Amino acid sequence: MKVLALIGSPRKGSNTDILVDKVLEGCKEKGLTAEKLYLYDFNISACTDCRLCKSDNYECAIKDDMQQIYPSMVEADILIFGTPVYWYGPTGKMKLLIDRMRPFIAGKKMQGKKGVLVVPSEEGPKACKALLEMFRMSFDYLGMEFVDSILSAAYERAEVSSNKKDLKKAYEIGISL
Ligand SMILES: Cc1cc2nc3c(=O)[nH]c(=O)nc-3n(C[C@H](O)[C@H](O)[C@H](O)COP(=O)(O)O)c2cc1C
Repeated sequence: MKVLALIGSPRKGSNTDILVDKVLEGCKEKGLTAEKLYLYDFNISACTDCRLCKSDNYECAIKDDMQQIYPSMVEADILIFGTPVYWYGPTGKMKLLIDRMRPFIAGKKMQGKKGVLVVPSEEGPKACKALLEMFRMSFDYLGMEFVDSILSAAYERAEVSSNKKDLKKAYEIGISL
């Protein structure tokens, strides 16, 4: 079983990254192989609604760094989406990636995969309602299973590293996958 973690925070080694690493620690403990990609390392253009991905090959017509990310997404059995809350939604970079998942609708390439959501925010779970719902509905539309989420209160860089409860929860989610 393969796990792909997509980090939608620009801050490497900070809250999203730390929580996702804990989930991956649990996954590796269970013998799963894991890959982690920092979305801010990639040039991801916005979907232009050209609808070419609805035709025969179900491929995105935009030739940018998503062409490197698509194969990892297709190969993974479990996808971890890690994003901080930015204005009660995901970061712009994560939203760009989600919009570019459109080829997976016609191509049905996400069907049956498991999805996990990892979200730090200053205000904690109450700030994540819209984001949580967005991912739930999107996973549903893609035919994915929403497995679990971790919504953690953290603001300063790497602040979550002192939150033993949420780190344990993240690890346990990884073990459960
Ligand atoms: C542009 C921007 C918008 C943000 N919007 C919110 C928000 O609406 N609600 C909230 O609770 N935290 C908000 N935050 C705080 C981040 O979610 C928080 O600092 C988070 O821990 C950052 O995660 P990271 O360390 O992985 O980058 C915002 C931060 C930034 C930079």
